[in-house]
Amino acid sequence: MNHVLEPSVEMTLNNEIDYKGDWNSRFFKNSNPIILELGCGKGEYAVGLAEKYPHLNFVAVDIKGNRIYIGAKQAEEKELDNLFFLRAKIDFIDYYFEENEVDEIWLTFSDPQPNKPNKRLTSKSFIERYRKILKPGGIIHLKTDSDLLFESTEEEIAEHGYNCLFLTWDLYGDLHKLPQESQDVLKIKTHYEELFTKKGAQIKYCKFTVN
Ligand SMILES: C[S@@+](CC[C@H](N)C(=O)[O-])C[C@H]1O[C@@H](n2cnc3c(N)ncnc32)[C@H](O)[C@@H]1O
Repeated sequence: MNHVLEPSVEMTLNNEIDYKGDWNSRFFKNSNPIILELGCGKGEYAVGLAEKYPHLNFVAVDIKGNRIYIGAKQAEEKELDNLFFLRAKIDFIDYYFEENEVDEIWLTFSDPQPNKPNKRLTSKSFIERYRKILKPGGIIHLKTDSDLLFESTEEEIAEHGYNCLFLTWDLYGDLHKLPQESQDVLKIKTHYEELFTKKGAQIKYCKFTVN
């Protein structure tokens, strides 16, 4: 598909990804900021963001090809030239992006990994990978239904001295505290948000910087 990249593990680990550091000139043909959605699933958030912000570039990452297919098909149909999907493990994200290449990262309804804290996308080892590729002051956003993931992220922020810019355990109750622009973005709902909201889950949100 036009909007999907599927690098092999071998090429990745051999550091043979030739678009690392070159996303803008190679794919987007502009020098606009690059925003990542990590664990994008079917890509509702990335598609919503790319439609709303044609002057920003988006890369949505997930390992599951059948989920990415749905978002990539929409990106093609809607002719979203500012959105690409990368089928890859987030564990290797710094093999695909150069230092300072990324402006912001969205983590949307990431797996809480109750038994494997080190696999949580806000655990120290993942944050270190994001730190490498983010520009100074680059923001990490987390939107989740999970008390466990949110609480552990709060602990990581405190323990490692990340700079928390906004945090709420009740996003929709506190939405009015944010600028209109942020409210519009945060109202975009992913597949998992729809599922969890129907079950009565309260949505939590925080944004923070790590460099
Ligand atoms: C609970 S789903 C959320 C999907 C989507 N963001 C949503 O809200 O509907 C988590 C997604 O993260 C992906 N994922 C989890 N860990 C990953 C990793 N280490 N590398 C790549 N994808 C990962 C899974 O494949 C899955 O699609």
